[in-house]
Amino acid sequence: MKVSIASDHAGFEQKQMLVAHLQGAGHQVIDRGPDSDDRVDYPDFAELVAKDVVSGQAQRGVLVCGTGIGMAIAANKVDGIRAANIVSAEFAALTREHNDANVITVSGRFVSEEENRKIVDTFLSTEFAGGRHAGRVEKIMALEGK
Ligand code: RB5
Repeated sequence: MKVSIASDHAGFEQKQMLVAHLQGAGHQVIDRGPDSDDRVDYPDFAELVAKDVVSGQAQRGVLVCGTGIGMAIAANKVDGIRAANIVSAEFAALTREHNDANVITVSGRFVSEEENRKIVDTFLSTEFAGGRHAGRVEKIMALEGK
């Protein structure tokens, strides 16, 4: 799968780890930076990944900051994005099955590398369940521009 990924300084180390993990698993990775842990502003990087996903350059997006929360808030401002801040593999599965999330945001400071690898793997391998969830996702998207 083609995956766009970025972080801020607080998520940099885990972003590097996840890039290597995803490449090792055979995914095509667009690394939108940063290239160091120098202080940056997370909305700038959320925007890059969100735009890759809505333009179709990437099928899914992964964002890492200190908590994952700021990245989620920022990414969800881009029309077409359904970003969820995820702290467990179970939630990663549920946000794909129920919300058809196309971006996840994870914490580089409060969640272990091992858990984040499981979260990202689950996010990429779980399909949207459709059915009763489809109409709800349509209603989420209809909120754009209101
Ligand atoms: C940076 O200090 C921190 O605010 C950021 O990484 C993130 O956790 C914001 O939600």
